[in-house]
Amino acid sequence: MILKGNFLYTPELGQLTIREQEYLVVKDGLVVDIYKELPKEYAGEQVIDYGNAIILPAFNDLHIHAPQMVNRGVGFDQELLPWLETYTFPLEARYKDMDFADRSYKRFLNRLWAYGTMRFSAFGTLHKEGTWHLMELTEQSGMSAYIGKVNMDRNSPDILREETAASLADTEELICRCNEQLKNVRFILTPRFVPSTTAELMTGLGKLGEKYNLPVQSHLSENRSEVAWVKELHPDIPTYTQVYQDFGLMRPGQTIMAHSIYLSDAEKETLKERHVMLAHCAQSNADLSSGIMPLRRNLEMGLDCCIASDVAGSHTVAMNRHLAMSIEVSKLNWLSHPEEAALTLPEALYLATKKSGSFFGKVGSFEPGYEFDALVVETDDVDGKLPRNPFERLELFVYDGDDRDIKVRYCRGKEVKKPFDLKDNL
Ligand code: GUN
Ligand code: FE
Repeated sequence: MILKGNFLYTPELGQLTIREQEYLVVKDGLVVDIYKELPKEYAGEQVIDYGNAIILPAFNDLHIHAPQMVNRGVGFDQELLPWLETYTFPLEARYKDMDFADRSYKRFLNRLWAYGTMRFSAFGTLHKEGTWHLMELTEQSGMSAYIGKVNMDRNSPDILREETAASLADTEELICRCNEQLKNVRFILTPRFVPSTTAELMTGLGKLGEKYNLPVQSHLSENRSEVAWVKELHPDIPTYTQVYQDFGLMRPGQTIMAHSIYLSDAEKETLKERHVMLAHCAQSNADLSSGIMPLRRNLEMGLDCCIASDVAGSHTVAMNRHLAMSIEVSKLNWLSHPEEAALTLPEALYLATKKSGSFFGKVGSFEPGYEFDALVVETDDVDGKLPRNPFERLELFVYDGDDRDIKVRYCRGKEVKKPFDLKDNL
């Protein structure tokens, strides 16, 4: 496959490469290279010409709650803990009903597709069959994902709490089903957060991590009341980070921790050493009044950070809006912390493409050998009367683009069409 157009990608943090009107060659799903002139060996082959459109690596969202997508914006007058109790847990309890799960998860996948997220790491619910259905639907969609059955056996309402042994057995069954039956969906261990999982459950999950060599995702230091609660629950363990570590849930290079706002330097050292991916969820942190993660300081310390949505702690799955929000919040933060430089747009793009893509392998860039995941984006130029260069087109798309602007989506070198045919354009 040969594409012609304006390719934008970020080989390093802060570095944006723009290849205008060049040719990108894809073979077996991988980028061969980008060429100014089409090499002779490809002469005569069909070229897909995308004209003035910009072509970006597709977004990778490493922290999203699939069952919560239908609640975007609901309950944001509350902080995290009452928000979970009042709005989120009752919604997640509905996924016992497979008809509800089917309708909701198809909407979830259609929406991610629409806004250009081709890979994600999602929390399901604690329900085994509902979560399995999400995995199967994702495999059918042509996108790629890590998906986990949520584990929660304490401090949760009766409608959304499991027995420890059953939680572990259901998790292991899904790990095996996933390994045997799915190709583009992989299982990720998903203890909800420390307050919802007993020491026994965390120990068991840590052992499953070892046995099957699995990645892990959870929440870390998101909200002050939550942090104080973890301290109360585990008075003998010095930090929130160390609770996960002690139970084998900080697996090196294979762990995503969402939020990670209130961390000591000692915790950051552990997270850095273990290459834990910190999912920065700026919009959620504002919507639930959680706080501001010191992103610049974390990046300067060499921590692994990416930008993620955390829907429905945030109100949209649209990753372009999360880039914009991360930049906006960093500018407000800079006003009161002038030593913490604001995030630039190329930096934000890197954190949501190449950096987040690294969790999937060579994903999120157009360098040779990368899996070809891409979005073809057109922005309004007033019928050609307001010509825009590719960088301006990127700015227009990041700040106010939406699904109408994304014309074509690719994942692993294949065009991905709208996954499910639902009524009312859902
Ligand atoms: N902490 C525990 N569960 C959740 C959740 O569903 N969303 C967010 N944002 N934080 C959590
Ligand atoms: Fe979350």
